[in-house]
Amino acid sequence: MIANVLCGAVLFSSVIALPSLTSRQGLCDYPQEGYQCQTDITHFWGQYSPYYAVPSDIPSDVPATCNITFVQLLSRHGSRDPTASKTAQYNVTIAKIKSKVPASAYTGQYAFLNTYNYTLGADDLTLFGQQEMINSGVAFFERYSELAKSVTPFVRSSGEARVVESATNWTMGYHLSKLADVGADSDYPYTLVAIPEADGVNNTLNHDLCDLFEHNATYANVASNAQSKFAATFIPTIQARLNAALPGANFSNSDTINMMDLCPFNTIANPTGQLSAFCWLFSLDEWKNYDYYETLGKYYGYGAGNPLGPTQGVGFTNELIARLTNTAVVDHTSTNSTLDSNPATFPIGPWVKLYADFSHDNDMTGMFYAMGLFNSTPTLSTSSAMNVTATHGYSAAWTVPFASRAYFEKMQCAGESEELVRILINERVIPLDTVCGGDRLGRCPLSKFVGAMTFAKEGGHWDQCFA
Ligand SMILES: *[C@@H]1O[C@H](CO)[C@@H](O)[C@H](O)[C@H]1NC(C)=O
Ligand SMILES: *[C@@H]1O[C@H](CO)[C@@H](O)[C@H](O)[C@H]1NC(C)=O
Ligand SMILES: *[C@@H]1O[C@H](CO)[C@@H](O)[C@H](O)[C@H]1NC(C)=O
Ligand SMILES: *[C@@H]1O[C@H](CO)[C@@H](O)[C@H](O)[C@H]1NC(C)=O
Ligand SMILES: *[C@@H]1O[C@H](CO)[C@@H](O)[C@H](O)[C@H]1NC(C)=O
Ligand SMILES: *[C@@H]1O[C@H](CO)[C@@H](O)[C@H](O)[C@H]1NC(C)=O
Ligand SMILES: *[C@@H]1O[C@H](CO)[C@@H](O)[C@H](O)[C@H]1NC(C)=O
Ligand SMILES: *[C@@H]1O[C@H](CO)[C@@H](O)[C@H](O)[C@H]1NC(C)=O
Ligand SMILES: *[C@@H]1O[C@H](CO)[C@@H](O)[C@H](O)[C@H]1NC(C)=O
Repeated sequence: MIANVLCGAVLFSSVIALPSLTSRQGLCDYPQEGYQCQTDITHFWGQYSPYYAVPSDIPSDVPATCNITFVQLLSRHGSRDPTASKTAQYNVTIAKIKSKVPASAYTGQYAFLNTYNYTLGADDLTLFGQQEMINSGVAFFERYSELAKSVTPFVRSSGEARVVESATNWTMGYHLSKLADVGADSDYPYTLVAIPEADGVNNTLNHDLCDLFEHNATYANVASNAQSKFAATFIPTIQARLNAALPGANFSNSDTINMMDLCPFNTIANPTGQLSAFCWLFSLDEWKNYDYYETLGKYYGYGAGNPLGPTQGVGFTNELIARLTNTAVVDHTSTNSTLDSNPATFPIGPWVKLYADFSHDNDMTGMFYAMGLFNSTPTLSTSSAMNVTATHGYSAAWTVPFASRAYFEKMQCAGESEELVRILINERVIPLDTVCGGDRLGRCPLSKFVGAMTFAKEGGHWDQCFA
């Protein structure tokens, strides 16, 4: 791999062994529709769901009399192993079972535990996750082929290995589709700007700079408090059942949640994406509650439920405004003015029609809330699960599953003097009615959309980040 370091940001230009262009993995995952096995369970894992196309009240195709002129992709990395701290906890939970539960207890749905060993790694993309990202590149190219066939996307990534790898895998899928379509792609491998996730680095694709948000309990503990409150409504029943079935394990509250987490993580650790046996230990209602529990974590961590959550997404929103309007970035939060004033690391102009940025679930949540996309969702209750499938509903599984993708589109339409902006998150058109007076197809004129981004333009509550 040849990597050029340019002013602290790493520009990758690597030689890559290409996989064959597969359209699906196992029998479960497809480029456009995403993960489609046992959807009554797998679509209710919060941010641990693998990407799936979310049903859209508004048709998600490009309106017949319009041409797409610009797309900004914002993507989460693909499916990964548990984070290092979680993998250590899961290992302990399984060790309790192995050392304390008599073999005679491993019957029925628990029989698999007799031979199950904890072998998951930490932090890295799984093979399934890599293929998800290749599929995402394929899906993007297919959806926007009119533009994609003639231009090369400008790609940025937050610096953590799995995010950079996700970006690279996405470009592979895009490239293979382009080769299949037009027969040549001389720009490949594409330039990739990776912004480090180190302390003190201004990075719009990764939060870290806002001191009080990161370290003061007023902000940092809101999500875990909300989750604990809701967990108390549904976890004790499951805990009692597991403890009765596996005597001696003495599962705590968090062991019980770990047992649920082991379902998604063992599923995406399997290259075919076949459901893990852990998944069958819980009922459909329990998965709905789990989904809501994970949703609360994002909403009270980085969304409207946290006083400084949406502020974390301000820097990226201001970059998006710059790209949409072909004007210089105006921001005093997490943007890096050195990077954003350099055309090599932040090109802007009408000739840059496709942008692709790669980040994390938490950061993307902050960005969606900085833009006010879910401002008309009622405050999420911590005492009972609310209906997330309502028109303005919000859920983690719908917005930031693994390999999730938001498309910010501009389109030129017959009879419209101005370009229109439309936003899709995982194929669901976000109704912009309460954001900027969006029409029945979910679109606002560019000037109205940008005019509505007052929270970001004013810097959110960045002034409150520092005591
Ligand atoms: C789990 O580990 C045990 C002990 O090392 C081994 O006998 C068993 O085959 C392993 N199970 C699987 C599914 O690999
Ligand atoms: C689980 O913990 C045991 C004991 O500390 C350790 O030997 C093993 O490597 C761990 N396994 C994984 C997959 O982390
Ligand atoms: C994904 O990208 C990484 C980094 O370039 C590469 O090592 C890996 O083989 C790719 N995955 C697939 C399935 O091609
Ligand atoms: C901004 O980016 C430049 C160029 O990559 C880098 O040298 C500098 O350290 C960055 N500064 C901050 C505060 O992130
Ligand atoms: C934490 O933030 C709250 C609210 O801004 C503030 O009142 C409090 O003084 C802060 N605590 C510390 C230790 O900075
Ligand atoms: C079960 O775990 C709890 C802590 O979660 C502990 O207080 C209790 O003593 C344990 N019970 C047994 C029988 O080990
Ligand atoms: C990085 O962000 C800080 C905090 O907003 C800002 O004061 C500083 O000027 C930024 N640095 C660069 C290089 O943009
Ligand atoms: C949730 O909201 C949707 C849309 O308003 C509605 O169709 C559905 O019946 C609601 N579900 C429940 C369980 O209330
Ligand atoms: C869309 O593009 C086609 C082909 O370039 C062109 O003929 C048509 O006028 C465009 N429509 C609009 C509304 O710009």
